[in-house]
Amino acid sequence: MNQEKYNESLFNFIKHSPTQYHAVANMVKTLSNNGFIPLKEDEKWIIKPYSKYFVTRNGSSIIAFLTGDNCPWESGIKLVGAHTDSPCLKVKPIPEVKNNGMVSIGVEIYGGLILNSWLDRGLNLAGRVTVLSLNDDGKESIFTLLVNYDSALATIPSLAIHLDRDVNTKKVLNPQVDMLPLLDTIRNTNGSTAKMKFREILLEQVIKQHSNINIKELLDFDLSFSDSQPPFFTGANQTMISSPRLDNLLSCHAALKSIVRSTNGSIDKKFSTNSNPNDVAAANSFAPCMIVCTDHEEVGSDTASGARGSFLSSVLSRLIPNTEDRIRSYAKSFIISLDNAHALHPSYNERHDLNHAPLINNGPVLKINGSQRYASDCESSAMFRYICRCADIPMQTFVMRSDMPCGSTIGPAISSSTGIKTVDVGAPTLGMHSIREITGSDDPFMLFKAVNQFFSMDLPPIL
Ligand code: CO
Repeated sequence: MNQEKYNESLFNFIKHSPTQYHAVANMVKTLSNNGFIPLKEDEKWIIKPYSKYFVTRNGSSIIAFLTGDNCPWESGIKLVGAHTDSPCLKVKPIPEVKNNGMVSIGVEIYGGLILNSWLDRGLNLAGRVTVLSLNDDGKESIFTLLVNYDSALATIPSLAIHLDRDVNTKKVLNPQVDMLPLLDTIRNTNGSTAKMKFREILLEQVIKQHSNINIKELLDFDLSFSDSQPPFFTGANQTMISSPRLDNLLSCHAALKSIVRSTNGSIDKKFSTNSNPNDVAAANSFAPCMIVCTDHEEVGSDTASGARGSFLSSVLSRLIPNTEDRIRSYAKSFIISLDNAHALHPSYNERHDLNHAPLINNGPVLKINGSQRYASDCESSAMFRYICRCADIPMQTFVMRSDMPCGSTIGPAISSSTGIKTVDVGAPTLGMHSIREITGSDDPFMLFKAVNQFFSMDLPPIL
């Protein structure tokens, strides 16, 4: 795979993943197409050596893995983590706000988004709905279905500068008042005011997308607005990518592509679906690989499907049921926690410690924080440096200014709950949590190469 094809695949993934639910559904599709076997949490698992599986939780988190020889306490497990959610505007349950002849949609602010970047944009609406459906046998069931308008359905209009002369000096956006996506105008038909019921409009769209299901009633929904404009290259020489949700779909995509690629034989010759489990040479050298992409990082990860929840530990305890074996396996394992890093902004170098200010198009960023907001330490950092050297790609280091607080990732969450040695890394990004973020055109592919290298190599032991 070359960089051009890789970026094309990334753009496609982001374009079709307006929410975490869509991101996971798209990952499921790719994994299924590549022979990964679906597991369900409520069923009994029979895990075979040298096989590939995936399991989802809540439709918004996913774990996929390749098994080795069923002795992970000998080899350790190679894990790559990322998060599936991004900051967005989440629709309230009774969202109609009718004001001055117009209908807007009431929203909550999900995650730490940059509010003003959401004004005057074509906003798509997508997510999932839970419906009551009527089966052929007359019984009722509850279904959850994905929904995606895939269009610029709404927009949040700014107030004209003529009506707010202080807009460029004093304006502070109020999430309750200023961030309402405008959905429709109320037309006067035959002298009476037309009614706008959000659920009715939504149900129409759901039926359009799922005509095979006999939907009786729309019960509830998890919907959010997102930028409707797909990713594009920017810059005189197309050296940058402008895209929604780079944080953190860029990383989910790198994890997904790496685990799929490490099974198709082109990178890791040791693994194939036809491998003989009794092949001692293969058994001794193949460490299980796993990707874990979880929801709710932008709101603290402390949920059933979040990195602080039980998803990863429950999967690992089913794969390695014996407690001692499992703890031994953790002690030999390694996690690369992927999340984007702050690149140096051309106008704001005072916001960085200039010794640790990553640049766009200069390779993956190793993230370090003394207060352990990132899980990297000198051993895990050294391992990542070594991996990048083996992959023949440059890398950079980020440390927040000492007079500024530092963000966090899922790295500390999964590292603290399992004890697995973890490094926090990510692609350099500008405008993190804006509706559109910028990374270098070379950066996603370099991150992929690092992850790919990690999955396909035998890691040297840390003694
Ligand atoms: Co992030």
